[in-house]
Amino acid sequence: MDLIRTVDAMQTHADTARADGRTLALVPTLGALHDGHLALVRTALEEADHVTVSIFVNPTQFGPNEDYDDYPRDLEGDRETLEALGVDALFAPSAEEMYPDVDDAALFGPLAWVSVEKLDEHLCGAYREGHFRGVTTVVTKLFHACTPDVGVFGKKDAQQYVILQRMVETLLFDIEIVGVPTVREPDGLAQSSRNEYLDPDEREQATVLYEAVTAAEEAAEGGEQEARAVVRAMENALAAAPDADVQYAEVVDAHTLQPMEYLAPGQEILAAVAVFFGDTRLIDSTFVQVPRS
Ligand code: PAJ
Repeated sequence: MDLIRTVDAMQTHADTARADGRTLALVPTLGALHDGHLALVRTALEEADHVTVSIFVNPTQFGPNEDYDDYPRDLEGDRETLEALGVDALFAPSAEEMYPDVDDAALFGPLAWVSVEKLDEHLCGAYREGHFRGVTTVVTKLFHACTPDVGVFGKKDAQQYVILQRMVETLLFDIEIVGVPTVREPDGLAQSSRNEYLDPDEREQATVLYEAVTAAEEAAEGGEQEARAVVRAMENALAAAPDADVQYAEVVDAHTLQPMEYLAPGQEILAAVAVFFGDTRLIDSTFVQVPRS
């Protein structure tokens, strides 16, 4: 596996693989890899002949009060894990490499952004101002650096997944977005790098997120037609955790990410929750096809 630090070297590496007739997949990550990330890597290995994993803790998607400085980093451990899985290239650029414009102090930040409007109005986007603009900007840059045919993303970050799908569609990227189902601990908690911040008591209570989205799924699949009732089912499940500070429990259309009053037969919905345990923010979600009758 090649460890690549610059955009130029990454583009040359990708050009060589393509000239050999290989198809390319990219798995973008923030590093501190866990089983959720590894499921994406395995999917990428099935989807394409050449797999690049990027590790870049992207400053522009973290808010001023978020955990950019404290975000877990373990490049050496991650490198060994990816090498063992048979990944071809690890792209781990510096912030200067990804944001050359920021070097000019007079500019106070990046010059160019990629943003997808409207889809960030609800769910996480309502509470993390500028977060998705940071994600779409960095993923665009990673796509230009790694030139993949396929980009692999987790459905765990459901809003991110939908926004990136709509980004490639509307901005005519010639890249297929592949979504991978959420990988969970045996008790249902979605795998996340932030789970390690939980104390044992919080960790035990954190299963309510999975219970909430499961309750939403059961309600919607069981014929519940009022979005409000599906939300209530999630809120009831979350109430079982005394230390859970609920940021949101919402049901939106899976395509527009806008809330609705009634679930329409055949509609795909996204039921999602965000919950704080102390300073640790956890999310979970599920895509549900509303039954036709
Ligand atoms: P990160 O949080 O490191 O996640 C990288 C990828 O792994 C994302 O596509 C995410 O949805 C997926 N993932 C994380 N936990 C998962 C789980 N339990 N099951 C399945 N997939 C999971 O998401 C980001 O990084 C960044 O925003 C990024 C896309 C890299 C842009 O900076």
